[in-house]
Amino acid sequence: MEIVIQPTEEGATGVAARLMARLLRDKPDAVLGLATGSTPLPLYRELARMKLDWRRVTTFNLDEYVGLAPKHPASYHYFMRENLFRHINISEKNIHIPDGMAADVPAFCRRYEERIRRAGGIDLQLLGIGSDGHIGFNEPSSSLASRTRIKTLTARTRRDNARHFGGEARAPHHVITMGIGTIMESWHCLLLAFGKKKARAIAGAVEGPITAMNPASVLQLHPKVTICLDEDAASLLKMKRYYRWVFDNKPEWQTF
Ligand code: PGA
Repeated sequence: MEIVIQPTEEGATGVAARLMARLLRDKPDAVLGLATGSTPLPLYRELARMKLDWRRVTTFNLDEYVGLAPKHPASYHYFMRENLFRHINISEKNIHIPDGMAADVPAFCRRYEERIRRAGGIDLQLLGIGSDGHIGFNEPSSSLASRTRIKTLTARTRRDNARHFGGEARAPHHVITMGIGTIMESWHCLLLAFGKKKARAIAGAVEGPITAMNPASVLQLHPKVTICLDEDAASLLKMKRYYRWVFDNKPEWQTF
């Protein structure tokens, strides 16, 4: 795992943006796995500002709420359109987001997996992390081999996300999410986390045991993971000084 600690959220976002921009320049037909939530917002702003060429890029989003139509302002369809897609030259046909209104959810999930396979797999999977360690919406106790499927959110995640729904009572219970096995098949995982609220989940994911109780800890088994943190999110890491030294002393060809 490569742990990048920057003094601020802006700094960590800048590193992630450069890494993604390099991929899009090196591989104009890259397949990206995208995330939602407050964490990637500044990254999407920065990517839009960079005026990259997205015409041949294909995207797959991690998750969507069950029962929310794409026009619902709290849906991830709406989020992605407003915060990224309408600002870049991506082709509509190359955008994939789980369908929260699917009549047959298991069939939809199988098709979603099949589409990822047919696209050649995901080159770069962007990830946030929940305060409980979830990636995508794979809550603690999710199978570490899971595929795209329906999940029930924990009370904690519903509380964390209640602000988007005008209160916890209105926050959905169910989501469709890529599985942990799906995420683990991507070529490169780029996880971003900012703020004290994420420090415990990050410490467990990076330095704790691999456990379904902190789903992000499975990334320790992934061959290529970059984790971009601000100081607060990194505050509980025991080997902080080492991670900093590694980043500051990279050979030229490894820098971004
Ligand atoms: P956040 O959510 O970016 O809004 O903190 C992250 C997540 O739940 O994965």
